[in-house]
Amino acid sequence: MSITNPWPRFTKEGFKKERIPDDLYFDMMLEYNKARFTDIQQDPYFEPHYDQVVSGGAIAMLDTDEPFYLRANISDQAFDRWAKKLQPLMEKWCGEKLNFIQGYGIRSYHKDSMLCVHRDEISTHIISLIVHVDEHPEVKWPLEFIDHDGKLHKVTFDKGDMLMYESLCVHARETPFTGEYYRNMYFHWCPVDWDPTPYQNNWVRYRSIQEALNED
Ligand SMILES: [Fe+2]
Repeated sequence: MSITNPWPRFTKEGFKKERIPDDLYFDMMLEYNKARFTDIQQDPYFEPHYDQVVSGGAIAMLDTDEPFYLRANISDQAFDRWAKKLQPLMEKWCGEKLNFIQGYGIRSYHKDSMLCVHRDEISTHIISLIVHVDEHPEVKWPLEFIDHDGKLHKVTFDKGDMLMYESLCVHARETPFTGEYYRNMYFHWCPVDWDPTPYQNNWVRYRSIQEALNED
């Protein structure tokens, strides 16, 4: 296993957790309280690099070949409105001019869900944001994150937290979720002058955090 080309660094550590600004959070909660989780997302396939059956690209569930999650459809207008307010914060954090690529969710994960160990889509998902919307009951579901120095962090969230992160850094939720539901939204940006070409042969999926930590 090898890294053909070293991954880029935009910030020192690769991630930063903050509270969602009040006005934005208020608007998000208005949308969330109207949202209904009627949309079952289930497109399972066996991904050999994870050695897991996954839906949604990277979501596995303990002891089942039929992993799923639910989704509430938040309007594109709402995502565009939020992305516009978030983008200056993201640009300030990473020091790059950004193009907004995509916002999606709200994803609702259920008991026994795991997020397989991965880096995001190298063509466009470079500077990203997780918004932690809700959980029930209040149980932590840590995000494992490997920083630029190869150090592993376990990031936990309270409702109303957001995590800015360089999504080409390895991340996962290896511990199966033990609660009833856990709800997040995601936003992705790309530096305006981004060129993915040097990284095309690098590994982006792993069987375990340990496998990613062993990579050199
Ligand atoms: Fe990801």
